[in-house]
Amino acid sequence: MVAIAVIGGTGALGKGLARRLVAAGHDVTIGSRSAEKAQVTAQELGAAGFAANADAAEGKDVVIVAVPHASQADTLAQIRDRVGQAVVVDTTVPLVPPKVMRVQLPSEGSAALQAREHLGPDVRLVTAFHNVSAHHLDSDHAIDCDVLVFSDDVEARKTVVELCPGMGIRGLSGGALANSAAAEALTSILIYMNKTYKADGAGIRFTNLAQAPAIP
Ligand SMILES: NC(=O)c1ccc[n+]([C@@H]2O[C@H](COP(=O)([O-])OP(=O)(O)OC[C@H]3O[C@@H](n4cnc5c(N)ncnc54)[C@H](OP(=O)(O)O)[C@@H]3O)[C@@H](O)[C@H]2O)c1
Repeated sequence: MVAIAVIGGTGALGKGLARRLVAAGHDVTIGSRSAEKAQVTAQELGAAGFAANADAAEGKDVVIVAVPHASQADTLAQIRDRVGQAVVVDTTVPLVPPKVMRVQLPSEGSAALQAREHLGPDVRLVTAFHNVSAHHLDSDHAIDCDVLVFSDDVEARKTVVELCPGMGIRGLSGGALANSAAAEALTSILIYMNKTYKADGAGIRFTNLAQAPAIP
């Protein structure tokens, strides 16, 4: 059992991730700007705890951050001094509304590299879950989608890859944090495909990986 906080756990992606992590038997705390709002989601999901974001981030093994790009900097600043040695998983996709079907990465290169600047060099930063639809996560069905996991900290990356099968998704190491730009960019293409092919949460699947984890 892993102690996990989901910051922004009241939102679309955060709630979907939290639902799957609770179902996998982990000790999940829902974080929100409002502890009262977090309580409502925690009760709905049967999560172990709820708290305001900074309090939720303290004393955990893994802290998942699932907030819009516009609030990434503020949210990471709030939790930076509370996460200790936890693995911090940033899920941010740097979409620029209204043109969310166009790849528009920030001048730093990616939301991952922005997160590294916001958190400083000592936080164990991973990025993941950019290409999985919240709508699918917030259900009980199997999800036909791979999740790419990026970090410069190999052990932290492994921790997140190993959480995935229990959530009904295959996690694959995508290498260094700098590679996160590729997954962040793919999300705009998936949104475009949802519209073009009338898909209900398109995903990605990698092939010919004989030694990769099995598809759960
Ligand atoms: N939705 C998806 O399918 C999906 C898939 C892959 C990746 N992502 C990425 O995951 C992240 C979250 O997406 P989402 O769709 O879950 O977003 P969302 O539902 O719009 O927001 C998530 C949570 O962020 C918090 N929040 C909203 N505005 C905020 C602000 N100004 N300051 C601080 N916190 C704020 C809210 O929590 P409280 O009000 O409780 O604080 C909200 O419930 C985004 O970066 C997105 O690109 C989303």
